[in-house]
Amino acid sequence: MADDPLVVFTPSGKRGRVPTGTSVLDAARRLGVDLDSVCGGRGICSKCQIAPAFGDFSKHGIVSRPEALSEWNAVEARYDEKRGLKTGRRLGCQAKILGDVALDVPPESQVHRQVVRKDAALREIAMNPATRLAYVEVAEPDMHAPTGDAERLAEALRAEWGVERLEIDPSVLAGLQKALRTGEWRVTCALHKGHRDSAHRLLAIWPGLHEGGIYGLAVDLGSTTIAAHLTDLSTGAVVASSGIMNPQIRFGEDLMSRVSYAMMNEGGATEMTAAVHDAMGTLVGNVAAEAGIAPGLILEMTLVCNPVMQHLFLGLDPVELGQAPFALATSDSLSLSAHDIGLAALPAAARVYVLPCIAGHVGADAAAVALSERPDLSDELSLTVDVGTNAEILLGDRRRVLACSSPTGPAFEGAQISSGQRAAAGAIEAIRIDPVTKEPRLKVIGCDLWSDEPGFVEKVGAQGITGICGSGIIEAVAEMRLAGLVDAGGLIGSPEETGSKRILPDGRTHSYVLHDGCEAGGPLVTVTQGDIRAIQLAKSALYAGARLLMDEMGVDRVDRIVLAGAFGAHISPLHAMVLGMIPDAPLGKVTSAGNAAGTGARIALLDVEARAEVERLVRAITKVETAVEPRFQEHFVAANAIPHASAPFPELRRVVDIPEVRFGAATTRRRRRA
Ligand code: FES
Repeated sequence: MADDPLVVFTPSGKRGRVPTGTSVLDAARRLGVDLDSVCGGRGICSKCQIAPAFGDFSKHGIVSRPEALSEWNAVEARYDEKRGLKTGRRLGCQAKILGDVALDVPPESQVHRQVVRKDAALREIAMNPATRLAYVEVAEPDMHAPTGDAERLAEALRAEWGVERLEIDPSVLAGLQKALRTGEWRVTCALHKGHRDSAHRLLAIWPGLHEGGIYGLAVDLGSTTIAAHLTDLSTGAVVASSGIMNPQIRFGEDLMSRVSYAMMNEGGATEMTAAVHDAMGTLVGNVAAEAGIAPGLILEMTLVCNPVMQHLFLGLDPVELGQAPFALATSDSLSLSAHDIGLAALPAAARVYVLPCIAGHVGADAAAVALSERPDLSDELSLTVDVGTNAEILLGDRRRVLACSSPTGPAFEGAQISSGQRAAAGAIEAIRIDPVTKEPRLKVIGCDLWSDEPGFVEKVGAQGITGICGSGIIEAVAEMRLAGLVDAGGLIGSPEETGSKRILPDGRTHSYVLHDGCEAGGPLVTVTQGDIRAIQLAKSALYAGARLLMDEMGVDRVDRIVLAGAFGAHISPLHAMVLGMIPDAPLGKVTSAGNAAGTGARIALLDVEARAEVERLVRAITKVETAVEPRFQEHFVAANAIPHASAPFPELRRVVDIPEVRFGAATTRRRRRA
């Protein structure tokens, strides 16, 4: 009615008239304003807080006065006394609208708030989780109208929360009666509804109002490392992050050797499944302990991984992935319970969403990178490279997106490198080599000083310099090339050829000493010829994959390059380009995106609609299979040189001089060819 009070909600700007005496929560619901509630308006959850704004709001065409809201009531006073309400806040379910009023909904009261991503400016994550909490009061049993507790709970959820169909996991049903009676027929339910579900699933039930929160785990299951972010499902905040080595390494370092292990050993796949489930248990324990929560509160998990990891995680035999045509058991996304997968690390009813795979060699990790980086929304032609044991590569723009996966091996993660180690305190992560003196300066993880700065030795302390991590080895090889210690073929020169006393003979080859800690009982950290060969193989595979996609797209250059991966953020664009890991591009257009696959997992965890989005995206991506493409081999061979045998790299040469050195006696070269 025209003389009903006018209410304006900010920041949404939604407005409308509601009858005098309507609660703010009801007004919000009528006007489609996003205002949270777990207790259904009973004044106990405090999720519905609003901040009234008083004054003359000509922008909104209203004058909002304090008397436009009912006075504080006993429920608010009690809540304030017990828990404290911030100054100026009211409980939306208690405050009634009596006149024209402007009301602000703070971010923490919005269900669909935006979560700001630290790692990329591209897009925020919209909170729209599949699992939410709902508090209900359930009718007590009556001998004269016999119904089960589950049916009365379903009826309460229908009446209060519009839940039309309720499915109850058997593991939850077992605790239902106790929860109802302990809570004196008041319970909090964790309800899950996936993007393809028609029913709600009851994942957990607690007596009374559950205030311990619910959590989800976004997991990036890589061949070498497993990374997990524990996320609060109501705020979207990452409350703990942890990573561990994938224990399947003991069955084979790369994917194909794990597939072979499964082929050659009876029960081999099952053994690897058990190993990864076991590791998930450790990881869940670690993140839960870090966040100080019970693992039982982790009710959802999203998983991104390559196809072999996906099969082994789900207990499927990966043997078909070892041979053309690389058929997946399923390329579709999967929504399962922890019990279905046999994953003991989470509550049996917890939901696990496995992102879809793109193709037999292009997995859910590539799909997750696409979801995080959205090349399909870019006007510029962007190349996204997720660096890991297997590199996921995407090339595209608004018109078309291509994807492939390239077997780089674990060298970029510091494995197969003589002094390689995990990115942990004491690992060399950055290197500069003076082109004249050939002397290195180093930076190690855990110390922000360079090794030639005063105080470095004291700060690095007893642990000293222990080895070299992935980003460190990339810089070391690139710097050695720039300083004229390594030639285009990747050969380390002799002390005479390079004029450096840091070059040591190493059999028939040479090594370069980055750090000699022997006197203090520490290690001798060197870059050996074998290390350079391992890096050459890895970077050639990566470059060849990118180049293959460029051929397919019919282009010779890209506008933008995004380096992603667990350590993608730590890779220096300049050094990656000197090495020839990535194609030539203006350096200012090469950026880092951090762990894009992990971010994709986090987006899918927090926004159920993003699951539908990634499924659409994957269907639209053109897959390019590197394993059967003869041009991949040609590109791979040409990319072996540093930076490249034939590509001129004009943008790179604009910023650095690459010495025209050539090492090795003729005999050495002949022997290598033989
Ligand atoms: S809706 Fe729970 S306190 Fe208002």
